[in-house]
Amino acid sequence: MNDFQKEVKDRIASNAQDERLKSDAAAFMRSSIASQYSYNFSWLGRPIIQYPQDMIAMQELIWSIQPDLIIETGIAHGGSLIFSASMLELNAACGGPQDASVLGVDIDIRPHNRQAIEAHPLYRRIEMIQGSSVAPEVVGQVRARATGRQRILVCLDSNHTHEHALAELKAYAPLVSVGSYCVVFDTVIEHLPGEMYPDRPWGPGNNPMSAVFEFLKEHPEFESDGQIDSQLLVSVAPRGYLRRRA
Ligand SMILES: C[S@@+](CC[C@H](N)C(=O)[O-])C[C@H]1O[C@@H](n2cnc3c(N)ncnc32)[C@H](O)[C@@H]1O
Repeated sequence: MNDFQKEVKDRIASNAQDERLKSDAAAFMRSSIASQYSYNFSWLGRPIIQYPQDMIAMQELIWSIQPDLIIETGIAHGGSLIFSASMLELNAACGGPQDASVLGVDIDIRPHNRQAIEAHPLYRRIEMIQGSSVAPEVVGQVRARATGRQRILVCLDSNHTHEHALAELKAYAPLVSVGSYCVVFDTVIEHLPGEMYPDRPWGPGNNPMSAVFEFLKEHPEFESDGQIDSQLLVSVAPRGYLRRRA
């Protein structure tokens, strides 16, 4: 580790102890989620429903892991698929896996979204499956696509109930390569007021974070990477960056 890297590491550790900074970040998360901030962005022309901080964390992971397959549940407008495809394209341009691709799963790929994704120049790195991410036949298709891949990264961003997120973790986390990650988005729901999602089944106690905690109890091969939480402070995936250590 050089001096600059050490400085960054020390600052992240010190920020993680800074109560004022953490409370300001938490306040920003509450008010920005209420104002639907995550819908404000696009990546290479497609709307992406993410916070820029998490996108930077994903860029760092994709660069350091150099995956040859990224599996994503939850496509929506396709922005996160295009984001992943673009990172794989950059990795390939820099000598990384040349045939790396992204596999997206969504229960409802709207025709206009499918059309726009298929028309995108990076579509050659993308494949999509329509169906519930926890349906056995869909899980089977994803497993088949994962066969023979060397470094797999998984991102879960579909239905945010405890039951669904836990079922996705059980189905897809085993595909994650050692040293790679299963990123579980929207764990932040645990920290938000229950009334924030009046028309949704999820809320505190019933969300991807509660699923992550239950999953980790029985899967010591995964650990939640607190370093990424401390680095970002502003994130929809606190405790959701799960690193496979064995
Ligand atoms: C939050 S959006 C995904 C956002 C996208 N990852 C991005 O960053 O732009 C959630 C998506 O999950 C999909 N979804 C909901 N339930 C699902 C299920 N059981 N299986 C697969 N996808 C599901 C929805 O149709 C929706 O498109």
